[in-house]
Amino acid sequence: MTVTRVLTGITTSGIPHLGNYVGAIRPTVAASRTAGTQNFYFLADLHALIKVQDPARVQRSTLEIAASWLACGLEPDNDRIWFYRQSEIVEIPELTWFLTCVAGKGILNRAHAYKASVDRNRAEGEDDDNGITAGLFMYPVLMAADILVFNAHKVPVGRDQIQHIEMARDFAQRFNHLYGDHLVLPEAAVEEHVATLPGLDGRKMSKSYDNTIPLFCTREELKKLIFSIITDSRAPGEAKDTEGSALFQLYQAFASAEETAAMRDAYAQGIGWGDAKQKLFELIDAELSPMRERYNALMQEPQRIEAMLREGARVARERHGLPLMRRLREAVGLRDLSKLAETASAHADKPKTALPQLKQYREQDGKFYFKLISASGENLLQSLGFDNPKDAGAWVARLKREGGEALSTAKWLLVDTHSAAPAALDALKRDEDERARAKNT
Ligand code: TRP
Repeated sequence: MTVTRVLTGITTSGIPHLGNYVGAIRPTVAASRTAGTQNFYFLADLHALIKVQDPARVQRSTLEIAASWLACGLEPDNDRIWFYRQSEIVEIPELTWFLTCVAGKGILNRAHAYKASVDRNRAEGEDDDNGITAGLFMYPVLMAADILVFNAHKVPVGRDQIQHIEMARDFAQRFNHLYGDHLVLPEAAVEEHVATLPGLDGRKMSKSYDNTIPLFCTREELKKLIFSIITDSRAPGEAKDTEGSALFQLYQAFASAEETAAMRDAYAQGIGWGDAKQKLFELIDAELSPMRERYNALMQEPQRIEAMLREGARVARERHGLPLMRRLREAVGLRDLSKLAETASAHADKPKTALPQLKQYREQDGKFYFKLISASGENLLQSLGFDNPKDAGAWVARLKREGGEALSTAKWLLVDTHSAAPAALDALKRDEDERARAKNT
């Protein structure tokens, strides 16, 4: 059976609210139990440093978020389900550097978060770079390393993160092109049917709108906040709209289909807002209260969480991070110097035996031609006659430089093309690239 590796990171800034619970924690914990998957969930504390430069807050938020996920039912077993701190996987910063060396700067210029900061500076008449750290600029490369270090296939994220996953694919592709097929190209998995939860004022629940309900506040506070949800001024007995009602949407996010239908009825029959809020409070509290108890217990025993995260990181490194980085170090040439002779001779033997050839020649008609001959002597393509040997030579050089791709533009000058020609040209191109690289170093 093939295993799908699912991976996602949680930035450790702030504390989780109900929107995070409904949109991310609850579905992710449920998905972690899917057979045939390996699940990597981690606290993205290195990412947090980009935004949060208050050490006590970084520490506190890491603990609170870890306790929240565990309280919500995540059960790491270091076999199918992994839970760890990003900063403990020391292979991640190392891979970040390997990827930095293949990542196009132009691609990073287009990252949404960085671009938004530049745009803000421009709008305010500031220098483009004002207040922007290299950390913010490099955010997508670090994120790519998080994903690629465990060769994840699927990355469940919100829409705002899709671009980052595409960048990770791009960096992985560039790396593989240079060094061989080492990295899996990850895919974003965006949950289409997970609702975004409204906040107290009806806008999307978000820290930046200051309209959130913390996931694990006390019962009393939960009640107070629910009773502060904004509603319209319809009196008890008046029929109410479910459409556009934040209260109703919150109810729906926690209710079964039957409960939702009953509440819809109650709206039509004119349930008073106070009664509706009481029902919402009871519904949410019933789901949260066992978790709240576990959360409070976990927060009393931070050493348990610390030990669990350390063990997760240790085993994840041992099984995945270390072997991968050992391969990648070898692939990029960070190698045992005493083995230079072996690798050099291995490389010297390979191309000579297997390379096809592009040959230029002159025919009796006085014209200049070229042809591609496979390593086994088969004729793979044949050009038209050129009056000038330089023109034929220029095409030969171009085919070597660009490989099989160049064939589509060269069609008009070829009389006979074998289906194996593109692959043969690609092999020539690789050889050409290798020579160029060897010359430059
Ligand atoms: N950038 C993600 C967010 O803000 C968090 C994150 C960091 C992440 N590294 C990741 C998500 C790797 C998925 C995979 O939500």
